[in-house]
Amino acid sequence: MNQPKVVVTRRIPLQAMELIRPHATIFLWDKEEEPIPQNVLLQEARDAVAIYTNVADKIDREIIEAAPQLKVVSTMAVGYDNIDIAAATARGIAVGHTPGVLTETTADLTFALLMATARRVAEGHDFVKAGKWASWAPMLLTGQDIYGATIGIIGLGRIGEAVARRAAGFGMNILYYNRNPRPEVEAELGARYVELEALLRQSDYVVLLAPGGGGTYRLMGAREFGLMKPNAIFINTSRGTNVDETALYDALKNGSIWAAGLDVFDVEPVPLHHPLLSLPNVTVLPHIGSASIATRTRMAVMAAQNLVAGLMDEVLPHVVNPQVYEK
Ligand code: GLV
Repeated sequence: MNQPKVVVTRRIPLQAMELIRPHATIFLWDKEEEPIPQNVLLQEARDAVAIYTNVADKIDREIIEAAPQLKVVSTMAVGYDNIDIAAATARGIAVGHTPGVLTETTADLTFALLMATARRVAEGHDFVKAGKWASWAPMLLTGQDIYGATIGIIGLGRIGEAVARRAAGFGMNILYYNRNPRPEVEAELGARYVELEALLRQSDYVVLLAPGGGGTYRLMGAREFGLMKPNAIFINTSRGTNVDETALYDALKNGSIWAAGLDVFDVEPVPLHHPLLSLPNVTVLPHIGSASIATRTRMAVMAAQNLVAGLMDEVLPHVVNPQVYEK
């Protein structure tokens, strides 16, 4: 019997491959760090029933329209702004993702980046290794305090809430801005809902955790950075598209904000000549929010479970577009 074809767009953990293998003929783009070229993806999608994808691929309308047999797209990520959900839904294609399993791990990394940026950890590391450490000095590599400071979290979803819990443990005042107020988080952590403008004006740390996509595109621009305090630190572990990077560069360069910690960029990998990389007050990471061994393995397995459910015409355990089942 002919097995359905599954396109796996990157080498993934063995446990995940083993879940898929009994159900499918697999086309694997067998690279660890190199994305599948779009023309190869387009070609391979033509007779595919399922695609196992990740944040670095673009599953756009062209791919979806080229794949008449496609039933399921499963991404090894919680975010799905790289997938044309409307096009998939219109075709009845279920889209799966991996919510929940990466919440705490991503909150850890967000807080690590916040602390590293505030206390200039990367600068200090480079300073010592470059042989520049001549003597103890009273104001050497002085940064900003975390305890007692005000954190403003934009997007209080699962990860935002987990960051708020860490902030409470560090004795921070917590503000948040979200589509809907979250009274239970307010009661538990003493967080306070404010409008975006008030959050930007009052926070020492502005942490962006809103999902990507059309509704949040360039949420942070010149006006928003202009409202922040000169001692404020901006942290982004959501999506680079949420930020106008030119406006961020200007704000950092002219001192209208103090520093930024970025795990995500408008274009990834961020080009080496990008102006943001030339600034000493920017700490950067390569989109590794959920990158612990345990969590990435769990995400890979969860994405495989979603994909296999789709192959078997079952409801995906974690579906982005449940509308596809409403017929
Ligand atoms: C990573 O960015 C994810 O959405 O899981």
